[in-house]
Amino acid sequence: MSKNILVVTGSPRVGGNSDILADAFIKGAESAGNTVSRINAGRMKISGCIGCEYCFEHEGTCCRKDDMTPIYDMLMENTVLIYVSPIYNFEVTSQIKAFQDRMFCGMVKHFPIKQTAFLTVFEDKDPTIVEPAVARYRKSSAYCGWEDLGVVAVHGTYKKGAIVGNSKLDEAYRLGASIV
Ligand SMILES: Cc1cc2nc3c(=O)[nH]c(=O)nc-3n(C[C@H](O)[C@H](O)[C@H](O)COP(=O)(O)O)c2cc1C
Repeated sequence: MSKNILVVTGSPRVGGNSDILADAFIKGAESAGNTVSRINAGRMKISGCIGCEYCFEHEGTCCRKDDMTPIYDMLMENTVLIYVSPIYNFEVTSQIKAFQDRMFCGMVKHFPIKQTAFLTVFEDKDPTIVEPAVARYRKSSAYCGWEDLGVVAVHGTYKKGAIVGNSKLDEAYRLGASIV
């Protein structure tokens, strides 16, 4: 059975390494018959959550009106949520973090997300530097009750396009293709 997959990318750099990684994943996911929607959150205006709890009193509606507003409807239509982000200062970009914080209203609205995955790319030659970001992703997914479908982490990748030819692109493709 095909699934509705929402891919959320976090880089401000158009056509950068994480964009290319997302492309590979999407190709795989579509090859398996899934329907994929993509949001380039890294290039959108998404403010952080202000913790006002307006959503608690308003059936999950967020009081902040920005590029996140129409995305709430998309979140109601997808059961798989994929994050694709470069590492900035040992974590996902602030744009992805803002997106995740703004899903706080999901405590009331209950998004139908069931599965998730995390794809990431970073400069460091040491692949272990991503472990704190992966740990937060796993803790957060478990807290939400979402099944972790996997992590693809690409190290040693700095300049735009440096990921081209990396075998991790095949891994991302296979992860997408495994979703059925
Ligand atoms: C503000 C900033 C912070 C970064 N912090 C890290 C870091 O902590 N560790 C790392 O390995 N790479 C870091 N990088 C490098 C990026 O993760 C790397 O260039 C990545 O390939 C960018 O992906 P993109 O092309 O999708 O934007 C940083 C880059 C920027 C611009």
